[in-house]
Formats: sequence, structure tokens, C-alpha cells
Amino acid sequence: VPLQPCNTFGIAARAHTLVRVRSVEDLHAVLADAQLASLPKWVLGGGSNIILTGDVKPVVLKLEIKGLRLVQETDRAWIVEAGAGEVWHDTVAWTLAQGFPGLENLALIPGTVGASPVQNIGAYGVELQDRFESLDAVDLATGQRFTLDAAQCAFGYRDSVFKHAPSPSPVDGGLPRGMGLAGRAVITHVRFRLPRPWKPVLGYLDLERRRVEAGVDQPTAQQIFDWVCDIRRAKLPDPAVLGNAGSFFKNPTVTPEQCADIIAREPRIVHYPMPDGSIKLAAGWLIDACGWKGKSVGKAAVYEKQALVLVNRGQGADSVTGGEVMTLARAIQTSVYERFGIRLEPEPVVW
Ligand code: EPU
Repeated sequence: VPLQPCNTFGIAARAHTLVRVRSVEDLHAVLADAQLASLPKWVLGGGSNIILTGDVKPVVLKLEIKGLRLVQETDRAWIVEAGAGEVWHDTVAWTLAQGFPGLENLALIPGTVGASPVQNIGAYGVELQDRFESLDAVDLATGQRFTLDAAQCAFGYRDSVFKHAPSPSPVDGGLPRGMGLAGRAVITHVRFRLPRPWKPVLGYLDLERRRVEAGVDQPTAQQIFDWVCDIRRAKLPDPAVLGNAGSFFKNPTVTPEQCADIIAREPRIVHYPMPDGSIKLAAGWLIDACGWKGKSVGKAAVYEKQALVLVNRGQGADSVTGGEVMTLARAIQTSVYERFGIRLEPEPVVW
């Protein structure tokens, strides 16, 4: 099965077996299937955060579970549930149209609902964990369904329990024990908690600038949604036009001492103090400072308008390979390390 249409980078690779999962019952059928049950399985959502470095031997489960509904409404919050296969941006638009604001800062992030907790997606001052209620998943080893709350998801910056390798311990009362669930569980539904009364999140400089330009004091959620869409369209390539996987590296954090050291050498470095006392550096700025904008390895290139995004300069059969992307990524990591002494960590999952 060709995977090129299933990953936003547009890398040409094939899956030996791909199963479309449209319901929890479909998932149970896969796990009960004599041929499929014992094979390793990988879960695919919108394919917007993966780099394929070759053909995929494990069974690919493509999550297409749909459904959007309000499950609870109190004075304090709306609780909305979405199927893992819903398109993220369409889900944000649906909640706003229904009158349940709160996800507007996360507009236009590529990918599906089921992928959103995996890397705790975030943008413009809001992270998924700020709007998360709980999720349902199925344990691939046992077929048992279980529910996780935010604490059990162990959210971090672009991180969660779903990005870490499992410990070998057995399941206990339906809830897999140990730190990691990577490759172990399939997310089927996610519930969001959208606090009432709604309050805009405007701390991010780009948004604040829009608010001042528009001359409004109290913008609506729809205005913020429109501004975020505008800002993203101006800065980030549309994967439908130019293949990419969003930010390719996480923004690194350093201690205040390390930061002071770097500032002494690089006074213009972009940095933000974090609530825990550490300092976050803009990876895009570091890469840009090393002169990478517009540079390429084969068909893999650094986007001209945002150095944190790697793009596919090829198309169709002539597309970039995962190898070229990883070679470019490693060259960037080396030059940033040599100049700043900072190790950049890739954000997408490498298959
Ligand atoms: N910068 C440069 N040169 C560049 C790129 C950026 O100097 O080529 C500077 C910018 O001028 C700015 C700073 O670096 O001062 C930060 O850039 P930006 O505001 O564009 O945000 P970012 O840190 O690059 C992060 C997220 C994005 C998210 C935006 C908005 C990460 C890894 N990336 O990007 O998330 O949309 O903030 O909140 O945390 C994603 O994860 O895929 C993603 C796109």
C-alpha cells in the first residue's frame, strides 16, 4: 500500500499491510484476526508528524474513527468528545460553530484528534493539556479499553506517555502500568474541557499585534481563530502545496547560567523565561543564525520563511527520501551544536 498520500511530508514509502479502523469494533476485529493479531502494529493518524525512512513492515492501523458531540455542559465547562480520526482543524472549527470556544489558538494545526495528545500539540500560548479532559484507548496487547486523565497522560512540552517505550510490566485492571505506551495503545476518542466563562489567550506577541491592529479590546474566539489562521498561513507552508511536518525540532531549554553564557556571545538570541525557572530558546532562530534558511540536501530543504520547518522540494515519484531528510536534520544538529553547544531534538516521530 503506498503511504505517500498518508504523510504530509509526501515521502514515498509503502506499507506491507494497512488496515483502516473506523470503529472500536474494527480494532477488536484486527486484534481477534488470526493473521494480524500477533504482528507488530503502528498507528497512523493524519501522518503530519512522521518521517518515513523506508517501507513499513509492521501492520499500519490508520485511525478513521469519526464523531463529534457535546457530552456534558456545566456552569464551569463544556466537555466535547471527538473520534480519533476527526481532522484536528475541522474539530476546532466545529466547536466554535457550536458555541463552545476554547480551542481557537490551536487552529490550523495539521493532523488528527487522535494524534493531538501524543505530542501535546501547542501553539500561540495554549497547549492541548490546557483543554484536555480524558481519552479512551485500546490496549493492543490485550484488546482491553481504558481511559486516561491528564495526569496519566504525563503531558510535557510536545511529549506524553504515548511517546515513550513501554515497560514490560503486565496490565493491571485494564490500565497498562509503567511509563510508556508507545506502540502499545491506540487512542480512539479524546474529550476536551473548554472552561466557562471563556477567556481569550492573547499573551503571544503575534496575536497581541493583531489585536492592536484590529483596535479591539476584547476579541471574540472567532477573531482569534481567524488571526491564528492568518499568522500560520503567512509563516508555515501548506502541506497540500509543499510537503512538511511542521516544526522539525523542539525548542530547547537551558539553565539561566547556560543562557547567560550564550547571551554573552550572542546578544540577539531569542529566549523566553519559563515558569519553572528554565529558559526556552527559539530553535528556529538558532538554525537561522547558522545560515540554514533555503539550504538543501537532495530534495530535503530548510523552508525560506521559517528555519524550523524542513520541506519536500520534490513531488510524486521524484519526492524527497526519509534518508535525505534525516541527513539534512543531522547536519543542522551538528552545526547548531558546534556554534551554540546545544543539542536539538527532532519533534516528528521517525518510522
Ligand atoms: N525565528 C528566526 N528565524 C527563523 C524562525 C524563527 O529568527 O527562521 C525566531 C522568530 O523571529 C521568533 C522565534 O524565532 O522570535 C520563534 O519563532 P515562532 O514565533 O515562529 O515560533 P516557533 O518557536 O518557531 C513554536 C512551535 C510551533 C507553534 C508556534 C506558535 C515548537 C517546536 N514550535 O514555533 O509549533 O505553531 O510556536 O506558537 O514548539 C509545531 O510544533 O509543529 C509547530 C508549528
